Amino acid sequence: MTDCVFPAREINQFRADLLRWFAAHQRALPWRETRDPYRIWVSEIMLQQTRVAAVIPYYQRFLERFPDFHALTRAPEPELLAHWAGLGYYYRARNLQQAARRMAERGSFPSTYEEIRALPGVGDYTAAAVASIAYDLPHAAIDGNVLRVLSRVLDERSNIASGVGRRRFSALAQEMLDTNQPGAFNQAMMELGATICLPKNPQCLLCPVAKLCRARASGTENELPVKAARVATVSERRTVFWIEKEDKLLLWQRPPGERLMPGFWELPEALHLPDAAPGVKLGSFRHGITFHSYFFEVWEARAPKDIGACHWVALSRLASIPASTILKKAQRHAQRARAAVSGQASFR
Ligand code: ADE
Repeated sequence: MTDCVFPAREINQFRADLLRWFAAHQRALPWRETRDPYRIWVSEIMLQQTRVAAVIPYYQRFLERFPDFHALTRAPEPELLAHWAGLGYYYRARNLQQAARRMAERGSFPSTYEEIRALPGVGDYTAAAVASIAYDLPHAAIDGNVLRVLSRVLDERSNIASGVGRRRFSALAQEMLDTNQPGAFNQAMMELGATICLPKNPQCLLCPVAKLCRARASGTENELPVKAARVATVSERRTVFWIEKEDKLLLWQRPPGERLMPGFWELPEALHLPDAAPGVKLGSFRHGITFHSYFFEVWEARAPKDIGACHWVALSRLASIPASTILKKAQRHAQRARAAVSGQASFR
């Protein structure tokens, strides 16, 4: 169970109101006149990147020529592509034929969600749509329309562009799904999103679930769904110094009151030791922090006369002081470099 804002009574009301509206107001679409999984699958593949109105004539012509998966299996590729010409994204037609060949091998259209999902060209959404519409299997189909409806009805502000947000919506959709009529429920959600719960100017006065809609109640329908583009990562190259003397290492400590890792010990950089003279490069590594992608180089250096705010810290204490991840990673590179030149007393 997810922590859905709707109590069970409201979920039931939502399902009933939505399904009653769908039964009365759904558009007459050719793939709604069949329960043949092959035909439903063809419609869902065509609808993946193409609008309903554009799909209808293609769908009808395609099925006249390829009425079942056996016919599709035998189609010469030029003819297959000719029937797809104008729909675009031609890999979809090739995937259809590959999938049809698998069906021919097993002798039937797959009948579980997992088997349908394993067909080429079928993702989570299409598998759930076909499984629910053709077989009434209880899988919520989640496309852009459904995300918009859900985010508004539940006033749910999770980011639909993030993995966390997608998982949250997936759980919520599954909880809202009417498992007695999953096919009708999924299509009703799509239909509501496509005809009433529009991205701009949602037609709330015509909406069958307006009185339950949390976004409408709080006036947030035009802010939803939240789709926050990922912030671009900033790449930065940095150099840290590994300066050893008599089993001690030169480090600086972040002030205890600092927001970022207070009290942690770090390797010095040029800004801490302007007079440091780098010698040999010991290694390099990447380190990511939120929106920063750092590329660190570790250079062995000689101790300058003026060590500024740095301190000599016994190497034996490194394991027991708060050492930053950068310092720990750099230490591994220094040890590896030392192992590589083993036989020499020191790499200084
Ligand atoms: N978009 C994707 N699948 C659809 C369906 N079955 N009906 C209407 N629009 C859709």
